[in-house]
Amino acid sequence: MYAVYTKNLVKKYDDYMVLKGVDLRIKEGEFYALMGPNGSGKSTLAAIITSVKHPTEGEVKVFGENPKLMRNIIGYLPQESFLSPFLTGMENLMYFIRLSGYSRHDAKRVAGKLIERVGLSEHADRRVSEYSGGMKRILEIATLLLPNIKLLILDEPTAGLDPSVRKKFFSILQEIQEENEATIMMITHVGADAEVASRVGLMDDGRIIAEGSPEELKELSSLSEVLDIETSIKNERILRILNRFSTKGDTLETERGYRVYCSDSESIVPEIVRVLNDAGCKITRIEAKKPTLEDVFFKLTGKPLRGDTNASNISQF
Ligand SMILES: Nc1ncnc2c1ncn2[C@@H]1O[C@H](COP(=O)(O)OP(=O)(O)O)[C@@H](O)[C@H]1O
Ligand SMILES: [Mg+2]
Repeated sequence: MYAVYTKNLVKKYDDYMVLKGVDLRIKEGEFYALMGPNGSGKSTLAAIITSVKHPTEGEVKVFGENPKLMRNIIGYLPQESFLSPFLTGMENLMYFIRLSGYSRHDAKRVAGKLIERVGLSEHADRRVSEYSGGMKRILEIATLLLPNIKLLILDEPTAGLDPSVRKKFFSILQEIQEENEATIMMITHVGADAEVASRVGLMDDGRIIAEGSPEELKELSSLSEVLDIETSIKNERILRILNRFSTKGDTLETERGYRVYCSDSESIVPEIVRVLNDAGCKITRIEAKKPTLEDVFFKLTGKPLRGDTNASNISQF
């Protein structure tokens, strides 16, 4: 049985088709990551799987049932924070635990345990309006630590988290996966997040265009290396020159230079240095790297995964 099963899922807003026939199958116990640019329909898909939204056409099942009937076992972290800033951490947690059917008395006991488990005991009685972004995310994930949760749907959960909170987030996630034998579907823009998934789906313009383990996707895109080059000048001419060295003529512009997709950097670096020098362009830094899943996405679609940022930021993760 699949934890998540969708068949030909279509979602339209008036005439605008957001999902164009999505067949998503996630097996029990899998850690599935969904990557795609802004507006590709990821959050809409997550909202349909959790029964928050309804599809225009197609079928959706969670553990073989209508997702509406499975709300108690679905832990959903939407893209926007869902905590009340007026309530304390403890009160917020109790509220969500009570929604899962616990009595007031039990909810208090369980909330106390969970808040301790995620390391926020000291802040339990402070209002959430005083929490940092990272603390809010950790409190939100505490709401998913209930034993009944079997499917986690996480919509860009690591956005804006600093590295230490991100690490903590992943370790709590792993605990939930192991203790509850939970299935995870995580939406992310960050290649490094998807790298830990057992399977990754790439979504573009309302469709899942490729799926596989991180290794399989890298193989599929036939990417073996990327070369990050920082240059003294950036213009169309330099881009055209570098395109000659990219395997399929697709060089990505980055903040301080370019990212060239190549198969053997060692043999082409001296040539690149020479040709750019002849064009009056100095190389301030050059580095060969392993491709990330964000590179794979760019290679397969011709679009950068993060329109709002750039490749030189990508490599920080
Ligand atoms: N309630 C809505 N009404 C109209 N359009 C919407 C609504 N919700 C989302 N959309 C549109 O659907 C597209 C996909 O949105 P979304 O699923 O949030 O994408 P993603 O999460 O991949 O960024 C966007 O173009 C967005 O503007
Ligand atoms: Mg979204």
